[in-house]
Amino acid sequence: MGNKLIVATRNPDKLIELRRILEAGRVPVDVGDLSEFPDLPEIAETGLTFTENALIKARAVAAFTGLPAVADDSGLCADALNGMPGVLSARWSGRHGDDGANLQLVLGQLADVPVEHRGAQFACAAALVLPSGAEHVTEGLLGGTLTTAPRGTNGFGYDPIFVPEGAQLTTAEMSPADKDKISHRGRAFRALAPIIAALLGS
Ligand code: IMP
Repeated sequence: MGNKLIVATRNPDKLIELRRILEAGRVPVDVGDLSEFPDLPEIAETGLTFTENALIKARAVAAFTGLPAVADDSGLCADALNGMPGVLSARWSGRHGDDGANLQLVLGQLADVPVEHRGAQFACAAALVLPSGAEHVTEGLLGGTLTTAPRGTNGFGYDPIFVPEGAQLTTAEMSPADKDKISHRGRAFRALAPIIAALLGS
């Protein structure tokens, strides 16, 4: 195994996704997550952009662990809401992580918005921070439209109301593998993989 890298998450799915992308890119790094650091304090996501929040998390983890760290931040940006919920996606209805309430609030806010104005993007920034202080950020976008009612039970968050450009299914009706191929997070992580390889892969 190569150098160690920590992904700033306690979500096992994100760890698996990053490992899969780095393996596909033949990047020889050993990826761990925050379950190895139970004493790491909660990191407040106080940035106004996905990039700022990804950097805040990656800097905090690199400083605490002394290891290279990757963090991502993502959300839904609706055209008719001027790009919101944006960085507030996880707490749009007031309570952090209440996916059902967040989705229903967006549907309510867009109730009178016609189909041609229901465009939206999933956006993700992925940051790599090294203990030396070096920083790299990549971004991934997935464009689409918002439905008028939820469809599908896969995925999380706003997946039941998001149909990617060129697709008929919502991302909650797609298989996880099909969503991974096009997702904003997959795109941001895949763009980061060669940078990780160049800096840590030997
Ligand atoms: P975080 O980047 O893990 O903080 O996620 C932010 C929030 O954005 C999530 O709680 C979801 O509400 C939303 N979000 C981010 N990515 C996706 C996705 O792939 N599908 C659905 N919702 C997402």
